[in-house]
Amino acid sequence: MKISKTLISKEEIENKISEIAETINSKYKDEELVVIGILKGAFIVVSDLAKQLQIDVTFDFMSIKSYYGSESSGQIKIIKDLEYDISNKNILIVEDIYDTGLTLSSLKKLLESRNPKSIEIFSMFVKKGVSKDPIEIDYSGFEIGPEFVVGYGLDYNGKYRELPYLALLS
Ligand code: IMP
Ligand code: MG
Repeated sequence: MKISKTLISKEEIENKISEIAETINSKYKDEELVVIGILKGAFIVVSDLAKQLQIDVTFDFMSIKSYYGSESSGQIKIIKDLEYDISNKNILIVEDIYDTGLTLSSLKKLLESRNPKSIEIFSMFVKKGVSKDPIEIDYSGFEIGPEFVVGYGLDYNGKYRELPYLALLS
């Protein structure tokens, strides 16, 4: 497998992050926010976003595994849990990509059970039309097609996360 094409450039990604950071800065200007990055894919988007936030914010990370078997679909296993108690906090879940939606919908239910004050979701990339478990995405960076993509945190067998752009493999 090789990188075949740049789908979204570094500049387009940078502009989008600035735009979303500005929206988040104005929405939470008088409120505390806990940003929750979903590892590993979201580490790059969280760090780029973080540098542009000018609000009262803390960061936490979670690592989860999703199961896609017919009986266990929608099940997630926590590999690394949050460090902070999120009860009565405003939280923003940051994900790299929203594909079938199973990961985010299960995660949202799980975090809701911990009684946060509010929950919002930011997914940097959203695969159009493939959602099986639709949930509301409050901030979405780019809508893309169903093809497998890498870069900007997304991997193929652990590789290509470091690319500053989004690319197609072939
Ligand atoms: P979902 O539960 O299907 O929405 O799963 C989303 C997860 O699948 C993401 O967090 C990624 O880890 C992975 N994923 C989905 N599509 C892609 C892709 O095109 N490239 C790399 N990883 C992907
Ligand atoms: Mg992931």
